[in-house]
Amino acid sequence: MSVQIDHNLEEIRRFRPSPEFAAQAVASLALYDAAKADRLGFWAAQAKELLHWHRPFTRTLDWTNPPFAKWFDDGELNVAYNCLDRHVEAGNGNRIALHWEGEPGDSRDYSYAELTAEVKKAANLLTSLGVSAGDRVAIYLPMIPEAVISMLAVARIGAVHSVVFGGFSAESLRTRIDDASASIVITADGGYRKGKVFPLKTTVDTALADGESTVRNVLVVKRGGNEVEWTEGRDLWWRDELAAVDAEHVAKGFPAEHPLFILYTSGTTGKPKGILHTSGGYLTQTAFTHKNVFDLHPEKDVFWCTADIGWITGHSYVVYGPLANGATQVLFEGTPDSPHPGRWWEIIEKYKVSIFYTAPTAIRSFMKLGRQIPQEFNLRSLRLLGSVGEPINPEAWIWYRHVIGGGSIPVVDTWWQTETGAIMISALPGITDLKPGSAQTPVPGIEIEVLDDNGAPVSEGGGLLVVSEPWPSMLRGIWGDPERFTETYWEKFGDRYFAGDGARIDEDGDIWLLGRVDDVMNVSGHRLSTAEIESSLVAHPLTAEAAVVGASDETTGQAVVAFVILKASQEDAVSPEEASVLLRAHVARQIGAIARPREVFIVNELPKTRSGKIMRRLLRDLAEGREIGDTTTLSDASVMQVISDKVR
Ligand code: WTA
Repeated sequence: MSVQIDHNLEEIRRFRPSPEFAAQAVASLALYDAAKADRLGFWAAQAKELLHWHRPFTRTLDWTNPPFAKWFDDGELNVAYNCLDRHVEAGNGNRIALHWEGEPGDSRDYSYAELTAEVKKAANLLTSLGVSAGDRVAIYLPMIPEAVISMLAVARIGAVHSVVFGGFSAESLRTRIDDASASIVITADGGYRKGKVFPLKTTVDTALADGESTVRNVLVVKRGGNEVEWTEGRDLWWRDELAAVDAEHVAKGFPAEHPLFILYTSGTTGKPKGILHTSGGYLTQTAFTHKNVFDLHPEKDVFWCTADIGWITGHSYVVYGPLANGATQVLFEGTPDSPHPGRWWEIIEKYKVSIFYTAPTAIRSFMKLGRQIPQEFNLRSLRLLGSVGEPINPEAWIWYRHVIGGGSIPVVDTWWQTETGAIMISALPGITDLKPGSAQTPVPGIEIEVLDDNGAPVSEGGGLLVVSEPWPSMLRGIWGDPERFTETYWEKFGDRYFAGDGARIDEDGDIWLLGRVDDVMNVSGHRLSTAEIESSLVAHPLTAEAAVVGASDETTGQAVVAFVILKASQEDAVSPEEASVLLRAHVARQIGAIARPREVFIVNELPKTRSGKIMRRLLRDLAEGREIGDTTTLSDASVMQVISDKVR
């Protein structure tokens, strides 16, 4: 709720771009004009300007079979060649691609030439293991250079990667491996987190332990130095294998609509959706937005996006956008507060980071710690700040600009989703007058509307956010489930894409995001589904029934709060406190630590309508400490009183 209250406070601060920034800005008003005059022509021009095509395209968009779009579909390109070789061929081989900083303080730099050489070898290795175009490779790695190398090697040979966030459990990993029928898993022995090594290979072993799987080989990068078990014939050390393959590899072109990756994200049901992205349109829009939204001057900027490669932000703004643009960037393995709470600011100082992109939840937790910590470091290299993942409240925006940005540099709030592939709504730095708390304007070439429930456009006020025209980096489907794709995004408003977010348009036409309108929660900028956590809870032998809500949380945006009815047979076996501890740990084990509920309340009943639907709205009121809303549709109106007595 805090977000909505902020929004209603009529935020009136405005920040004009400084003349110095505007004078050197990469973006221009002309982009909007060009896109308005000829939207498809605009994207075709961007695709040609930003990318190398092995075979030029002649068709820009085929939308004859909505919602299945094809962009640039008679063209051919190689995504990895675009991110690597062509920069070397253009004479920029010595430019640093990655300044990698390990959590324990070790570091390694990769020039574009070195990164290209590594990816070529890795591509040969995958080919030698029988991976061919279209095959799926699962990647389960910490934030180490090999993560980027693996993704690009997979892309280079036209295979399809499915990166699984290293914090996900064995069970979550297995579900994703099975859904995509992956033949190879690339992992590490372990990674560093908060000064300790956490195991990854062991989790892969557990994931693959039961029943036949499609996985033939597990490639293991040595990182943590922790002990691992070995399955002969299946498991291979990354380094040993790479040493044995050819160093040369010629990238060949693949059709623009060739699949590039699958990335699983939470939806409204218990089963994660494998969001499918393809090559030419995805790379065009990630490169375009990375260049214009972040004002990239590749020859001098140092870009740092703090997202893990396990999320879409890591795919689009750690790997594909920045590398397609030949940027120099920081890749960091650790967490913001280890070994000390100024670690991020120390890294900005060390590498003279000029463009910094992170999530509001991180900014809010730094706000809590106080400005003294960042003030100990020299952050004057920063010239642009970005935010993504959830609404940024104006106070956090102002703090970010002042305390981190020194008071005068642009802050861009970027709205987009796993499904959109790239940034869709954002101010353009140097061009737009900034409004704290509002994502503001669709980027050039993107058509956004806010609709009321009946599908009528709202010109001022609140409603549901839709994308009204297909865009280059749009998802091409849900892996193996075309019906779910159509149902989830395209049924509500016909051929307009329904994003699942509420939004408000203000009197200037600027867009304010108001959070999800479905049963998807946003915890620290990570998407979690209420249904997925509920099904995990009911899978525990103690549980009879469970309801999960996202309650607002000062730091994490939302937090998972669960209401659980214990099985009658178990009620005497455990105390409510014990049950709550057990169930929180159970969810963390089953799905991953990010899904661990902040609270599990043991209750006797759940509020239901006469048709048996759980009224989560009322549980949210309770979890947020508000007065309980309208209970007239409950089958038994006294239930809320009983639950509330238990909880409070
Ligand atoms: C939310 C992350 C407000 C939104 C890139 C969306 C935002 C979901 C913003 C997608 C923003 C993302 N302001 N809300 N700037 N950016 N969101 O797929 O609810 O992990 O639907 O993609 O995050 O989350 P996802």
